[in-house]
Amino acid sequence: MSLFATKPLDRILKESEGGEHQLKRTLSATQLVALGIGAIIGAGLFSLTGQAAANNAGPAIMISFVVAAIGCVFAGLCYSEFSTMIPVAGSAYTYSYATMGELFAWIIGWDLVLEYAVGASTVATSWSRYVVSLLKDFGIHFPLQFAAGPFEGIKLPDGTEVASGIINLPAVVIVCLVSALLMIGIQESAKVNSIIVVVKLSVIVLFIAFGWAYVNPANHVPLVPDNVTGEFGKYGWSGIIRGAGVIFFAYIGFDAVSTAAQEAKQPQRDMPIGIIGSLLVCTVLYILFAYVLTGIVNYKELNDPAAVGLAIDRTPYVWLRMWVKFAIIAGYTSVILVMLLGQSRVFFSMSRDGLLPKLFSTVHPTRLTPWRSNLLFMVLVSVMSAFIPMSHLGEATSIGTLFAFVLVCAGILVMRKSNPNLERPFKTPLVPIVPVLGILVNLYLMYGLGLENWLRLFIWMGLGLAVYFGYSRHHSRLRNNS
Ligand code: ALA
Repeated sequence: MSLFATKPLDRILKESEGGEHQLKRTLSATQLVALGIGAIIGAGLFSLTGQAAANNAGPAIMISFVVAAIGCVFAGLCYSEFSTMIPVAGSAYTYSYATMGELFAWIIGWDLVLEYAVGASTVATSWSRYVVSLLKDFGIHFPLQFAAGPFEGIKLPDGTEVASGIINLPAVVIVCLVSALLMIGIQESAKVNSIIVVVKLSVIVLFIAFGWAYVNPANHVPLVPDNVTGEFGKYGWSGIIRGAGVIFFAYIGFDAVSTAAQEAKQPQRDMPIGIIGSLLVCTVLYILFAYVLTGIVNYKELNDPAAVGLAIDRTPYVWLRMWVKFAIIAGYTSVILVMLLGQSRVFFSMSRDGLLPKLFSTVHPTRLTPWRSNLLFMVLVSVMSAFIPMSHLGEATSIGTLFAFVLVCAGILVMRKSNPNLERPFKTPLVPIVPVLGILVNLYLMYGLGLENWLRLFIWMGLGLAVYFGYSRHHSRLRNNS
């Protein structure tokens, strides 16, 4: 059978409806929007906005947020069409199995590990910094060499630092706690996520509302600082683009909603609400947040991972500082939660198709969660967070996600040709313009991430192909007609 044989849609839908590999359909539209926001707002907004303004875009970081959002909205519309047409777990992996065949499906499923498992590790490494800093506010001094891996240092907002650590233990702890919650149940996980989302949204809204009066319009002039050195990405238009590439990380996660399609009560109606709704809410908040941040503190001073604290100190609302730290810690937790959820659901589908061992799709008899998969990823993600530097993990996450977006947009074009008459409860508007623009914008952002990240992507994909030809191809249920 050809490597490009696609999996028939009716078979995909039938398999999702019963048997031993069954997930629970309990999520409402609101919970899906909350899942999206839970995954989206995290390290990208709180740690990268200030840095990208200082180093790349200046106050025009607001425009960078719009540019990155455009790429995401194009991809989000394509995800929505797919997730209503094929409302089963697995997201982009399942979509490409139906459109571009098994090999592409494998490539995308393997690639999604970069987005979900590596993304969860990235945020866990950053989580530990804020926890150590918060503990310090309460007079507890956590030894810094146990809060960073051996290849990176750690610097707290108050200036204390070590040049390199030994192991990032808090990151391991949070990954284990979140994995335990995921094993307990989808409803329990969604409830915890919803509470966290309320906390983090309210702190962002407070920051914007209280900070608004302290915006100094002079800090927004010039909006786009001149690129005087001629170096690409150092202010000017190229700085806006490079800035968009950096803060793209802040948008990652809206697509994780689509991995839970098989657990949605009414996927046909609620998937687009969850995906596009969470993306729009976050885009508006991000632009306002960037406006206030660059308005209170001049962009030249913002090269600080704790830039939000710097801005709060210039208002009379110093008490908000502690809340922001708390919201950041809670907020990062929900990002880790939804990323790990997405990861287990993608491997669930790949395993159900025989491309991965059965352990990834065996669900707990009463909890109905893929707990063995959760357990395995708990170990893998803990090890990554414990030892690998955050910047490496973050960039690998971004390139992996952008690649998935490109393939999903391409999948819409293929599907419209191969299955023109299929029922599409949600249709991507202006096809082929939207998917083609989605492909181009996301490829452009990938280009901006540089050669080193392309190499990482190739190496990861090479490894994936070895697994595919060594194991998956021979166990594929589609190939074996089972
Ligand atoms: N968008 C997520 C974050 O910013 C990954 O942390």
